[in-house]
Amino acid sequence: MKKVLITGGAGFIGSHLADELLAHGHTVRALDNLTPRVHHEGGRPSYLDPQVELIVGDVRDGALVETALEGVDVVFHFAAAVGAGESVFEVDRCMSANNVGTAVLMDRLVRSSVERLILGSSMCVYGEGLYRDSSGTPTEILRRRPEQLRRGEWEPTSNGEPLSPIATPESKTPSLEGSVYAASKYDQERMCLRFGRAFGIPTTALRFFNVFGTRQSLSNPYTGDLARFASRLLAGRRPLLAEDGEQLRDFIDVREVATACRLAMSADTRHAVINVGSGRATSLSEVARRMAGVAGSSNLAPEVTGKYQIGDVRHCFADVGRAKQALGHQAQGHLDAGLLELLDWVAQQTHTTVKKTFPMLVQLELGLAS
Ligand SMILES: NC(=O)c1ccc[n+]([C@@H]2O[C@H](COP(=O)([O-])OP(=O)(O)OC[C@H]3O[C@@H](n4cnc5c(N)ncnc54)[C@H](O)[C@@H]3O)[C@@H](O)[C@H]2O)c1
Repeated sequence: MKKVLITGGAGFIGSHLADELLAHGHTVRALDNLTPRVHHEGGRPSYLDPQVELIVGDVRDGALVETALEGVDVVFHFAAAVGAGESVFEVDRCMSANNVGTAVLMDRLVRSSVERLILGSSMCVYGEGLYRDSSGTPTEILRRRPEQLRRGEWEPTSNGEPLSPIATPESKTPSLEGSVYAASKYDQERMCLRFGRAFGIPTTALRFFNVFGTRQSLSNPYTGDLARFASRLLAGRRPLLAEDGEQLRDFIDVREVATACRLAMSADTRHAVINVGSGRATSLSEVARRMAGVAGSSNLAPEVTGKYQIGDVRHCFADVGRAKQALGHQAQGHLDAGLLELLDWVAQQTHTTVKKTFPMLVQLELGLAS
């Protein structure tokens, strides 16, 4: 049984991981500054298991990090300013929390007895997912051109030829120009993996895809589409789809991510990057229809808007071969059950924190730029 520190452990993925670890007999400590944007209610979140020892504070506070590392065997580093959109306007906040935070943690890890480090990284380091051309050759594209989007040509092409999306493996070249956040997550990976190698601490960077589930802050951009769909359906309105709604994503239930994280603690991997996704490509239109179905509102068919945002990724879903082989992890994917729980969660948020949450829901609904 291990003593585990989760930075960002009061957040969405961290708190679910805490449940998973406690259920398997481990001891859990969380270091979290309870960022107000995520923790609207303030104070210790009610969903955080009472057995979790919570240290409230910032991962950039070296002395506090040193205290938090006392007696710890394994560190999950999840504390981060999460969000590509926000990072454009808040470069300092994003880079400081994500990069300086990681640097401070590295400094203090050197003096600790930690035997394993696991980073919560992100699919966003890929930018666009991988494609293949008509001859079957894997093809990487940077991003779709604005003039192409203006014409409503949504699918990426290569020299005018159509491309087909395929599962994205860890070997795909990172494409970081999409956001400051993506650059910060890639930087975190490089720092952690280099540090792990230098100091002989086995280190794994898990690239999470679109994680969804209860406890996810409505301001969490990874749940943007799902939260938007849910808030529209709860208001008796049709979900709105950008472009033609056929963008492919990889939605994975947060509990399956927690399992992958736990498996990474004992996996025989050294300094590896591993995708954590369901391995299934689901279009936004399909997920909107399925959510309407589980909500009992199948009459609220999604509405295609044809609107788009420059820089949006068209398709990205995970090649999960390495996760299967290295972690023995395979997501089971109960999408409908998860969507129902998410709807319930969004409804609760709306009712219990209506004043604080309402402006956010409005933003979510208006979030589609033309
Ligand atoms: N949710 C997803 O789909 C997804 C996908 C890819 C990667 N990730 C990564 O997974 C990790 C967890 O994300 P999440 O979705 O649970 O987000 P979250 O916002 O719910 O959790 C992050 C937690 O970190 C805390 N935090 C932020 N800055 C901190 C700081 N400076 N010091 C201490 N604590 C701080 C916040 O208070 C919050 O509780 C992040 O590193 C994120 O980049 C998430």
